[in-house]
Amino acid sequence: MNISLLQWIERNTNRRKDEGMNIGIFDSGIGGITLLHQALVMLPNEKYIFYADTDNAPYGTKSRDQVIALVDNVMRFMAEHDCKAVVIACNTATAAAAEIMRQKYSIPIIGIEPAVKPAVRESHGKRVLVAATPLTVREEKLKNLVKLVDDAHLVDLLALPKLVEFAERGEFSSAAVEQYLRDAFSFYELAQYGELVLGCTHFNYFKDTFRKILPNDVHMIDGSEGTIRQLVHVLKSRNQLGTDCAAVAKNDTSVRYFSSGRELKEKVELDYVKRLHERLEKMRNL
Ligand code: DGL
Repeated sequence: MNISLLQWIERNTNRRKDEGMNIGIFDSGIGGITLLHQALVMLPNEKYIFYADTDNAPYGTKSRDQVIALVDNVMRFMAEHDCKAVVIACNTATAAAAEIMRQKYSIPIIGIEPAVKPAVRESHGKRVLVAATPLTVREEKLKNLVKLVDDAHLVDLLALPKLVEFAERGEFSSAAVEQYLRDAFSFYELAQYGELVLGCTHFNYFKDTFRKILPNDVHMIDGSEGTIRQLVHVLKSRNQLGTDCAAVAKNDTSVRYFSSGRELKEKVELDYVKRLHERLEKMRNL
């Protein structure tokens, strides 16, 4: 396409035809925009419903049962909004609720997980630090994933409970964020690490601050690209990929943004969403 991704997002936000089936993407908050952003790169000819459950964020400090109930609410919303697939753009919600939701809903559900497997493969024998929310770190799903790939016992898990709250306040690179991360990392000999896994979608907003603190050769990795690759695979196998290649040029594709069920329509809200996409675009190559 000959318009930039950011121009495209601006042009298509809240402009859509009502027919056609949507891809639903949701998170407790703004972290999920990481996956929407990646989906817009890889699947530009689709219609999206983006849902941030901001009234109930953060999920990561809640109990498993609380998160299951919240995810169920969002899934019902997605089912009522004509979704052909749903991406759980939240590692915490995937860990706590994806399997249960798959038993309950017939819509294909693709959930993001911490990218532990590629991190172990690419760390060349150095240690791997997986940063995530407290609930993700507690859940069996992550522990089982680590057991499966960490033969050499190189993986450490670190809960960062406050980072999601910083992100939801729009505070991405303040002195307080930097101090919080420096304190959290002070227990680790960072020179021993090859990979930092961003195991929460909100953490992508902080890559510049992580970069400041980590030794240069520690690489950051997250599961968003793999998750959208899985979405492409699922849609292809069901013959449900958006096929109108001219759709972008015709303004025929779009994103509708919802905050806990309320559609964002105000310019000030949509401008904020645009700034979040801009920040993620900057963070992509760090
Ligand atoms: N963004 C979510 C994740 O990937 C968690 C955010 C939260 O704690 O609400 O885990």
